[in-house]
Amino acid sequence: MPASIILRGLGAYAPAKRLSNDDLTHLVDTSDEWIRSRTGISERRVAAHLENASDMGVEAARKALAQANLTPADVDLLIVGTMTPDLPFPSTACLIQNKLGLRPIPAFDVGAACSGFLYILDIGTAMLRQGPYRNALVIGAEKMSAVLDWQDRTTCVLFGDGAGAAVLTPSAEKDAGVMGSVLRTDGGDMRLLHMPGGGSACPATHASVDERKHYLKMNGKEVFKIAVREMEQVLRDLLAQHHVTAAQIACVVPHQANIRIIEALAQRLELPLDRFVINIDRYGNTSAASIPLALAEAQEAGRLRAGEYVALVAFGAGLTWGATLLKWHTT
Ligand code: ACO
Repeated sequence: MPASIILRGLGAYAPAKRLSNDDLTHLVDTSDEWIRSRTGISERRVAAHLENASDMGVEAARKALAQANLTPADVDLLIVGTMTPDLPFPSTACLIQNKLGLRPIPAFDVGAACSGFLYILDIGTAMLRQGPYRNALVIGAEKMSAVLDWQDRTTCVLFGDGAGAAVLTPSAEKDAGVMGSVLRTDGGDMRLLHMPGGGSACPATHASVDERKHYLKMNGKEVFKIAVREMEQVLRDLLAQHHVTAAQIACVVPHQANIRIIEALAQRLELPLDRFVINIDRYGNTSAASIPLALAEAQEAGRLRAGEYVALVAFGAGLTWGATLLKWHTT
């Protein structure tokens, strides 16, 4: 078994088109002031018409591979986290495998919504530890604009499109890389955040389209409360497992759903807000892409330093949530 699994390369991609809060005032009854003060979002990116989750995932993956000094031929395993797959089937991983020109390796999707990146990081790490794989590509990619109801001001202002990727590689370095994760699910509250139409329970019909069932539905107020409570708890449980205190975490990369959720988390953990990576102002909530996008930006800004603890924490539809502890590698 390798001594550790490290994130050898990171990559992020956001579509070129920016949609500002002011742009949204032409679609729904809202204001820049409301969105900014309630969520921290100033603008979000929106994919082009024929630009899908797989295309964004490919762009992020290419950057992660380049940073890791690897080529598509080196990838032995591909896992994609998405709640906005290009198609109901085959999986977006199949499409990315083909677009990147990967060998016929294992490739599959994981549906854990906004917590998706933590789930695929944990699965990828476990599969690499067991072998026979050398390099795994894990990608969070979302085209949220395709599932938003652009007539519903309570949801359409919150989300954006994008992708983020990491190359996971075994390393001989001890006490580095992915230290562990705690992942949780409670399907009892699934109705708080879901899309009723389009699956086998409610296939597309004229009626389902008329009833706007093919769009994301969310009870934001309830989700907000549970998110703050559970993100704090799961992070505390993870840190306790590893005998690490919150104060020892140099950098927290939280899911970017609402700046007020992040502020509440910082307060509860008694950590200064400047330990948290925040880019929600520019991207909104990009679901499974949110954490790898923020992680790649943190690296670019020099915030992921060798030997320091980095904590990832997410919450999303399912309900799903979780936290991952990393110790940034030196090599
Ligand atoms: N513009 C203007 N007014 C608005 C808007 C808008 N875009 N949206 C809602 N309002 C109005 C409401 O209608 C309401 O008006 P009323 O009082 O007359 O009824 C008022 O603003 C207050 O609405 P609330 O829902 O109470 O606003 P709140 O402060 O709770 O903020 C928000 C709503 C931003 C959705 C917040 O609850 C939130 O961020 N929730 C968490 C979402 C989340 O974390 N999702 C994570 C998972 S995402 C995933 O897995 C895909």
